Amino acid sequence: MITINETSFFRFKTQFDVLQEKVLPELISLKKNLDRSIRIWSAGCSTGEEPYSIGMILLEIIPDSENWDIQIYGTDVSKRALDHAKDGFFNEKSIEGVDEYFIQKYFNKINNSYRVNEKLRQLVSFGYHNLIREPYPLAVMSNWDIIFCRNVTIYFRIESTKRVISNFYKSLNPTGYLFIGHSETLAHINDDFNLIEAKNIFYYKKEKKRKKGRTLRKDLLFEDKKQWQSLEQDNTQNDSNKRELEDLLRRSNNYFKQKKFELAMPLLKRLLKNDPDNTQAYLICAFIHANQDKLKEALLECQAALQINPFLPAAHYLLGVIYTKKDEMKKSIEEYNKTIYIDPNFALAHLNLASIYYSSGQYELAEKEYLLTIDSINNNPDGEWKEFLGGFITDLIIQTCENNILELKKLKS
Ligand SMILES: C[S@@+](CC[C@H](N)C(=O)[O-])C[C@H]1O[C@@H](n2cnc3c(N)ncnc32)[C@H](O)[C@@H]1O
Repeated sequence: MITINETSFFRFKTQFDVLQEKVLPELISLKKNLDRSIRIWSAGCSTGEEPYSIGMILLEIIPDSENWDIQIYGTDVSKRALDHAKDGFFNEKSIEGVDEYFIQKYFNKINNSYRVNEKLRQLVSFGYHNLIREPYPLAVMSNWDIIFCRNVTIYFRIESTKRVISNFYKSLNPTGYLFIGHSETLAHINDDFNLIEAKNIFYYKKEKKRKKGRTLRKDLLFEDKKQWQSLEQDNTQNDSNKRELEDLLRRSNNYFKQKKFELAMPLLKRLLKNDPDNTQAYLICAFIHANQDKLKEALLECQAALQINPFLPAAHYLLGVIYTKKDEMKKSIEEYNKTIYIDPNFALAHLNLASIYYSSGQYELAEKEYLLTIDSINNNPDGEWKEFLGGFITDLIIQTCENNILELKKLKS
């Protein structure tokens, strides 16, 4: 049973790797010639492991931290957790799994406990704050470079989560970042943030993508007319190749829809030989192989597609299906969440998440996902998710969701 204050040092390590290797270096290079300040808020910090982990990473990559104005602020509603965090004492079990290097450098052993050392304690401060209560005080509503709010809002009502995230958005600097729990999503909650992918995880940036500039007229780039004409000729050849490849894709897609997989497969292989970056061809292959329970092949094909473009909801969705078939439910949940990070209305990802939560007794989350399934179907009745329906009609899905929601309400009461 997960307790509400559950936390650990470097929990979900990949997020800290991304912080160390991507986010902080970018921030440091931006700030080094400005005010040399870094402000990080750990909202819902529990007993302090999260902000102290952030602090260790910061001290590692800014060896001259005394020349910087660094603030890491941990807040929580649990005064007991905050007292623990402020004292900075942790038992043997809490530091299990922390790299020996960090233990030696940032902890002092006192009897059977480990206390966070003075340098790290000076970097991190703590205060009471309730994320649900508005308006937020000035102490938290101001200029954060990074906000961590992981595994806190999962049990909030969706309306509260929306307000919390919108407050984070307002209180972040224009180039600020937000990290939420690795299996949480902002789908249906907030679409102001820019989604970023690194090391196979997602996080958010406040800065909006730049608007696309005007398309350059290629003929203006070439002073020599011949050079331009030969490029045009190449293009004609390219166009006929392109048409051939499009035709291969169209035919294999038709066979695939008619479930004539044995006819689709050779065409897809030919297509991929000539166009190894064709993500759609990889996805159809993966779908066919997943259907035939050839999970290893299907997995590799999804991964190949994602290497070309990490933002393909269908590839993440198929990975979710594959991991469920392999009984690797944690990975499956991660992939479904990535699917809806990218396409919040990918109804089948919500539906599959709902049934995973239902069968593992997480009724609150299951209910939320059934509701989101219905919302997604209504918001985007003809989305890409429909290609994966396999003959089911959407009305039946809505009906199933409604029945299950009623069942769940009974189970909860
Ligand atoms: C599961 S812990 C997560 C700790 C840490 N963020 C992590 O991921 O390891 C959730 C924390 O959120 C805090 N919390 C719950 N509701 C809150 C609220 N309305 N405002 C601030 N913190 C809250 C709880 O007290 C708890 O310490």
